[in-house]
Amino acid sequence: YLLLVILLLISYLLGSIPFALIVGKKMYKTDVRGYGSGNLGGTNTFRVLGKKAGVLVALGDLLKGGVAASLPLIIGSDLDPFIVGLPAVFGHCYPIFAQFKGGKAMATSGGVLLVADPTLFLIMFVFFVILLARTKIVSLSSMVSAIVLHGFMIWKGDTAVALATLFLLVLILYRHRDNIARIVAKTEPKVKW
Ligand code: G3P
Repeated sequence: YLLLVILLLISYLLGSIPFALIVGKKMYKTDVRGYGSGNLGGTNTFRVLGKKAGVLVALGDLLKGGVAASLPLIIGSDLDPFIVGLPAVFGHCYPIFAQFKGGKAMATSGGVLLVADPTLFLIMFVFFVILLARTKIVSLSSMVSAIVLHGFMIWKGDTAVALATLFLLVLILYRHRDNIARIVAKTEPKVKW
């Protein structure tokens, strides 16, 4: 039990590393919270600072989710990587290192999924890219992907993992509440690349 608590705590701290803030401030002298959607994520960094910075942030956020989900493997425990990865996603959204105002859970969730189920990650990634190519709206593609992933986990029948993806889904929808309002009002910006 103590081990689980320690792992969950480390996972939260890992997720709290604000890559959008670090890359923006250290490499571009820009705090992306003051621009675009104000979100600390790959999408907003891409929007404000360009492709290279956005991809770097997305990869960093993915990596921390992946490392968090790998913790059981690293210490040789059989705890579920999905469950241990969840606090990292929460930490990404509410980071202790950035006044609890972080990102919208996508890249970090992707990192957790990559470690927990690489094949499913690949399928979801391709699905997300197709959605994005069609809609050109990252937030919409993110939310639809999260809904589909949760649906798939219910169908698979692993209750613990299905509950984990339900937690992710609720968190992702809640973090996208401003985006949802903009999508309804047809003012959500489309990506330009
Ligand atoms: O993953 C974040 C994305 O879905 C939305 O980000 O900056 O467009 O609100 P943003």
